[in-house]
Amino acid sequence: MRFEKARYTERFGSVRINEVQKILELDSGRANGNNAGETIAAQRIEEDVMRDLEEKTLIVIPTKNEKLKLLEGVVSGIPHDCSILIVSNSQRKDVDRFRMERDMLEQYCHFTRRKAHIIHQKEPLLAKALEEGGYKDIIDDEGLIRNGKAEGMIASIFMAMLLGKSYIGFIDADNYFPGAVWEYVKCYVAGFSMAKSPFSMVRIQWRYKPKISEGIYFRKWGRVSEITNKYMNLLISNRSGFETDIIKTGNAGEHAMSIELAELLCYASRFAVEPQELISDGDKHGVDIFQMETRNPHLHEDKGEEHLQDMLMPGLSTIYHSAICDEITKAKIALELFQQKLIGENEEPPKPQLAAPPKQINLAKFRESIADYIPMFSVLEE
Ligand code: GDP
Ligand code: CO
Repeated sequence: MRFEKARYTERFGSVRINEVQKILELDSGRANGNNAGETIAAQRIEEDVMRDLEEKTLIVIPTKNEKLKLLEGVVSGIPHDCSILIVSNSQRKDVDRFRMERDMLEQYCHFTRRKAHIIHQKEPLLAKALEEGGYKDIIDDEGLIRNGKAEGMIASIFMAMLLGKSYIGFIDADNYFPGAVWEYVKCYVAGFSMAKSPFSMVRIQWRYKPKISEGIYFRKWGRVSEITNKYMNLLISNRSGFETDIIKTGNAGEHAMSIELAELLCYASRFAVEPQELISDGDKHGVDIFQMETRNPHLHEDKGEEHLQDMLMPGLSTIYHSAICDEITKAKIALELFQQKLIGENEEPPKPQLAAPPKQINLAKFRESIADYIPMFSVLEE
């Protein structure tokens, strides 16, 4: 593949945020062993480099009652050398949709000679193993993992740690284009190949997110992401004293991280939160953040009217309550939320519930507790 090189990098404490990088070629041809002919603006990433990274990557597909055909399409788009984990919160009563997902995956693995994993978010053994490892932040009063995509994602980070993976990437189950899924994974590993630090993150920006009403309209920006980006950029601008618009992926649902980074972050609903220490203590490695712009349009299941309100609050309240947020940014966020009629005048947005960094788990105890059940989560080739 061939990417634009990041021509500009914003430094925020020890975090390096690279500007959006576009894909120049989805396929850059046969390996020629040297990049001597490469221009300074482009960067070619060899097939083998990508394959090596794919082998170390767990791709997680969070799903809840999605159409089986969509889920199957997403699975089919994931490059062969990646491991797959479906973390499902689909219904089990009446129609056992989880069973159907499992059967689909089994059949798929049989014919493609590959291995995958599937867990149900409400599996009591999983919650029990987390508790025994001392990690209770995503467990509810009934002793099960709470509902929510974020909770499923956090659970899957523990699975990646267990499986000894170096990278974890997330891809929603409701994507209509297997080709887009393939491209996300390629962007993930391309980003990892560019990272200088063991702590790295790749965030996807879609080139277009089409809307279908009368005909098809290739829209680039959604309202929510525009507003979220604006306040993230404001926070960075106020810290440095220089205005920036570097962040284009504040709302990216599709993203990937090195496990070393994933272990250190706190998590709010759908947002990873960089702990203060990670930003300010100037860890000698720093953190590399990449934003990759895809070629395939992003088309996912239309779940009806998107409520600006429901989608805006989690992101903005997370920025607002971040330990690094300054008073000016806070005031502007409060005003925005007031104008959107989401909070009253002079009110603060509700504090998001943060789940602790996964590193806090006692991995040995977690592993011991769940060991016998690992085969249950695995769908093997054969
Ligand atoms: P949007 O695309 O951001 O509007 O959100 P979606 O409703 O499409 O959800 C994103 C992904 O998370 C989809 O694949 C959903 O099936 C999945 N998802 C939603 N809720 C849950 C949940 O409680 N647990 C898990 N594991 N996945 C969920
Ligand atoms: Co969706």
